[in-house]
Amino acid sequence: MVAVQGRVVLITGASSGIGRACAELLSARGHIVYGTSRQPGAEAPPGWRLLEMDVTRDDSVQRAVDVVLAREGRIDVVVNNAGYALAGALEDISVEEAHRQLDTNLVGVLRVCKAVLPSMRERSSGLLVHISSLGGVVGLPFQGLYSASKFALEGLTESLRLEVAPFGIQATLVQPGDVRTRLTENRVKAQRSGPGSAYQAPFETALRTIEAEERAGVPPEEVARTVLELMEGGPVRVRYSVGKLAQRAAVLAKWVLPSRTFEQMVMSLYGLSRS
Ligand SMILES: NC(=O)c1ccc[n+]([C@@H]2O[C@H](COP(=O)([O-])OP(=O)(O)OC[C@H]3O[C@@H](n4cnc5c(N)ncnc54)[C@H](OP(=O)(O)O)[C@@H]3O)[C@@H](O)[C@H]2O)c1
Repeated sequence: MVAVQGRVVLITGASSGIGRACAELLSARGHIVYGTSRQPGAEAPPGWRLLEMDVTRDDSVQRAVDVVLAREGRIDVVVNNAGYALAGALEDISVEEAHRQLDTNLVGVLRVCKAVLPSMRERSSGLLVHISSLGGVVGLPFQGLYSASKFALEGLTESLRLEVAPFGIQATLVQPGDVRTRLTENRVKAQRSGPGSAYQAPFETALRTIEAEERAGVPPEEVARTVLELMEGGPVRVRYSVGKLAQRAAVLAKWVLPSRTFEQMVMSLYGLSRS
């Protein structure tokens, strides 16, 4: 049994936003934290370490995991957080853009899991925390590939839980609503979403709502508190939602309302109407 404090934690995408907030909170709490970034820079953050990792590259993922294992001898907790949002109408998204989104948000998580699981199995212990999204429960307009990546992450994690439980390893999902981070500035727009797109006007209207909601979102520290609590609590549930009550209620609404009524609510939120 691993002590509640002093756990070795690996957090992907810790250069900003949710990952950084997790790294700061968990290290302040006494855990041994390794964050990752594609460009870690020379300056070490106080109290924790930033390693280089690109989750789209097998060798880069394995190298960072090996560094932590060599220094600490174990990884107790992984927060699979690295990701970005691709925006655009599905018709406008190129196959390459779709591959990149899935390679980072979904296959990146798989790469990290594959790299850490052998050592976790050896020790019959470990916790994998996957940062999903409310977009992994509700298909959002003009964020179709982002939603697809998070829906898939939900399925991957549900399956993973069943496979690793016999080895004493746990996995869980954290579903934040809108959070104030650099996700908004870092959003990638489909190259064909500009002039010439049949969807340009509704896309721009929806994007204004998406960005305004993100800028009014909860601070990333709120997600970090959820991660800390579940990490230091007992057996983890399948999923935890975090964020504004109205957004968390939307998940419930999806299951209780007639599907067309719920869809209508989502459409009007994003300024869309049926012809
Ligand atoms: N903000 C929200 O409203 C919200 C809501 C729900 C879920 N989420 C999820 O929360 C997670 C963190 O996002 P955030 O909001 O904190 O955004 P952020 O501030 O843009 O942070 C994203 C992090 O991911 C890293 N990253 C991106 N691509 C990467 C790659 N190929 N390899 C390794 N690292 C990569 C970035 O690191 P480098 O650029 O330094 O490599 C950065 O540290 C994402 O999975 C996102 O989908 C966010």
